[in-house]
Order: sequence, then structure tokens, then C-alpha cells
Amino acid sequence: MTESKEYWMRRRGFILAAIGSAIGLGNIWRFSWLAYRNGGGAFLVPYFIALLSIGVPLLILEFLLGNYFQGSSVTAFKKIRDQLEIIGWIAILDVFIIGTYYSVVLGWVMDYIGYSAVVAWKDVGAGDLFGSLIANPWLQLIGFTITWFITWITVYKGVSGGIERASTFAIPVLWILSAILVIRGITLPGADVGINWYLKPDWARLADGKVWIDAFGQILFTLSVMAGPLVVYAKYMPRNSELPNSAWITAFANCGFSFFFGFATWGIIGYMMSLQGATTPADLNVPLGGAGLAFVTIPTATSLLPGGIAVAAVFGTMFFVILWLAGYTSLISIVEPVHAALNEKFGTSRKFNVTLITILSYIFGLAFIFRVDLIDPVDFIAGSTNLVWVVLLEAVIAGYFYSLKKLRDYANPYAELKLGEWFDFLIRYVVPIIMGIILVYGLISTDTMSPISGLVLILLIIASTVLAGSKWKTIETT
Ligand code: TRP
Repeated sequence: MTESKEYWMRRRGFILAAIGSAIGLGNIWRFSWLAYRNGGGAFLVPYFIALLSIGVPLLILEFLLGNYFQGSSVTAFKKIRDQLEIIGWIAILDVFIIGTYYSVVLGWVMDYIGYSAVVAWKDVGAGDLFGSLIANPWLQLIGFTITWFITWITVYKGVSGGIERASTFAIPVLWILSAILVIRGITLPGADVGINWYLKPDWARLADGKVWIDAFGQILFTLSVMAGPLVVYAKYMPRNSELPNSAWITAFANCGFSFFFGFATWGIIGYMMSLQGATTPADLNVPLGGAGLAFVTIPTATSLLPGGIAVAAVFGTMFFVILWLAGYTSLISIVEPVHAALNEKFGTSRKFNVTLITILSYIFGLAFIFRVDLIDPVDFIAGSTNLVWVVLLEAVIAGYFYSLKKLRDYANPYAELKLGEWFDFLIRYVVPIIMGIILVYGLISTDTMSPISGLVLILLIIASTVLAGSKWKTIETT
């Protein structure tokens, strides 16, 4: 049975959902740490260049593809050339794989919302508490199950009734709570010292190629551009919609959030430095980015806040609610494109697809719960390397196998910001060249790819081949 096509209720809902996909764990625990390591304020230069040269153009391209072809990347690429369908499946299945471990981390975050209520790290210490959590599958299962249950219900309820509602609620709450944390962060004694470490420009760092690779890699990851969520989100806008400016808004809201949240993180780090008389953040001997920042450093810091245990509970809870909401709206955008692709190809219903995706993700996620050490090698391939070559192919498909001019002419009559030939130039030349450089750089700088990464890559390609080779059930309407 084919259901009639779904739509967003409002353009605002579409943009908030896209922002929700983009803003995730990476904005909170990765951006400010990258800035700190890579030249402070000077890092904003490569970051902005990456945003303008590849980030925004790719975001616009994904919105145009999804809306013009009224489908996921599977449908879009197939309509461009039959043989290209497999690239769409690779993208979609890659998104699925990201979801299997992203949800495990979100499960930890959910557990930490509970821990925060009682400041569970006050006696054992934050490092030991985190260690005991990831050594205990049963504890992880609690947050993991709740996270999947909420995500399942949300996507099950559909585009406007589920995803749009969730995003319209979650994104404003995320900003408000973050503003409270930022205000607390920057008003702590010593905050200025921390923020200075975050943003003090060290221009000499820009001579290091790694800084630029980090900036471009972060832009790809943070915007969720990978022929997945954003293509599908644009599918649910009616034809004749404004698209380019929506992409600009999404990009700036996302990157603005990262920048903004850095003040909370580094205000608190500065405060810890002043308490311990540390001269550099490294002297604190605590993780300044990644899971370590979220699950060890921040909890430790909340216990040091003036005001005692209740204050630690409140700010701890607030931090993990922010982190969970950020990740939840991203996880929604992982499930939705997989559903869309299955629905387009096999005609299976939303309820069936979403339930199937949830069950499969849950089962695969269990593997990570029992073997937390598998997350890194899988993320290396699915959450990092694959993004680069998939996006490279996406740009080549749109730029050489199809006509960017056609897409521009389609979008421009309704566009608040018109697309000119600069758009074609960026997609056809700049994106492929930069992706090529990142790939080559990655190949020469990683010693060896772990067998796990290689295995995941092979399975991904096999599964995509099978899916691309199977029969379309729905009657094609063009
Ligand atoms: N943008 C998300 C973050 O910053 C992560 C992410 C990358 C993602 N690719 C994605 C989320 C695809 C959903 C779908 O955390």
C-alpha cells in the first residue's frame, strides 16, 4: 500500500529539523576542543573557509536534490543513472551504521541524566563512574533502551506529527538551556583565562596542514552532509519552496551553536584552572574534548561549582539534557532517511520500516554495549572516512552526471538567495578536489586501517549491492 506523501507543516519545522540533525554531540564536545588545539581564534579562519567552500554548497545541493527528485539519495541517484543507485544505498546504510553506535553514546548520556540527579560522581569520582558504566552492559541498556524507545515513537509518528514536533520543542529548549550554561560559565572566576585558551589566535598554526584537514572534516561531520538526512528532509518540502536560504540558516545556526557553546565549556575549564592554579589547560590532566570531556571533565567541574551539591545536580542535569537533546534530534535524522529509502524502493510502510530499523539498530547497538572498544574503528570508517568519499561521489554525480544549472533553475524562482554559477564551480571543482586531498592525506597519515574498519566497509558495500540489485516494488512516478 502506498501512503500519500508527507510534508512538513511549516518551513520553520523543516529548518529546525535540519538544524536538529546538524547539531549533535560533535558541536558540544568536539568543536571547541578542535579550536583550542588548532590555533584558537585563528581556527575560525579555516573553519569559515570550509563552511563557505564546501559546507554550505553541499547543504544547498542536498536540499535541491531531495526536493527536485522528491526522494532520498537512492531515488535521486537512480533517476540520474540506474547504475548510481548503489551510491545512494551506501550513503543510507552508512547513516544507519552511524546510528548503531551514536545511540549507544546517547544511552550513556541518558544514564548520566539519572546520575546527575543524585550527583553520582561525588563519591567515586567521575573517571571511575564512567569506567564502571562502560564496563556494565546492564546499566548501559537502561539509557540505550529509553533512547531508542523515544526515538522510535518520534519517527513512527511521522514527519509533521513526530519529527517536526520534536524538533520544534527540542531545538529552542537546547538553546535556552545552553544560554544558561554559557552565562554560568562566563561568570565563573577565571572564566576569561579559559576562554582565552579557546579563542586566543595563534596564526602560526595555520601553516599546519592538519589544522585545515580538521576544519574541513569537522564541517562535513557537523552539518551531517552525506547524502542522507538532509536530502530526505528537503523531500518533505513542497515543490516551489525556498531552499538555498534555508541551507544558509541551517549552517549558521549549527556553527553558531558550536561557537556559542564553547564559551560554557571553556569558562568552566578556566574556572577549574583557577581553582587548581594550573597555568595551561593541559596541566589539569583531564580530557578537554570528546567523550572524556562530557563524561569525566564536566561532571567533575559541576562538583566544584560554588553552591554545593544541589548546584552540581542542577548544572549536571542541564548539561546532559542538552547533550541528549542534541543527539536525539540527530538520531531521528538517522532513522528517517533509512525509512524513506526503504519506502521508496519497497513500498513498505513507515510503521514497519521504523520498527525494523529500531530493532536492527538495537541489536547491532548491543554489540557496542558489550564491546565499547569497537566504537572507534567503526566510527573511523562510517563516521569519518566514508563521509569524504560519499560526498565526493555526490558532488561528481550532481556536477557531471546531471546538470547543476537545471537544479539552480528549479530552485531560483523561489530562492531568497539566488544561486549563481559560483555554485556549479564549488560543486564541480572545489568539493571534489578538497575531498580528494582529505582522502589522500588520510591514506598516508593513518598507519593501518584496523580489520574492523575494513570489515565494516566490505559489509557496507555488499549490503548496498544487494539492496541496489533488488526489485523496485513501487510504480515509478516521475
Ligand atoms: N552532525 C552530527 C553531530 O555533529 C553528527 C552526524 C554526522 C550525523 N552525520 C550524521 C547525525 C548523519 C545524523 C545523521 O554530532
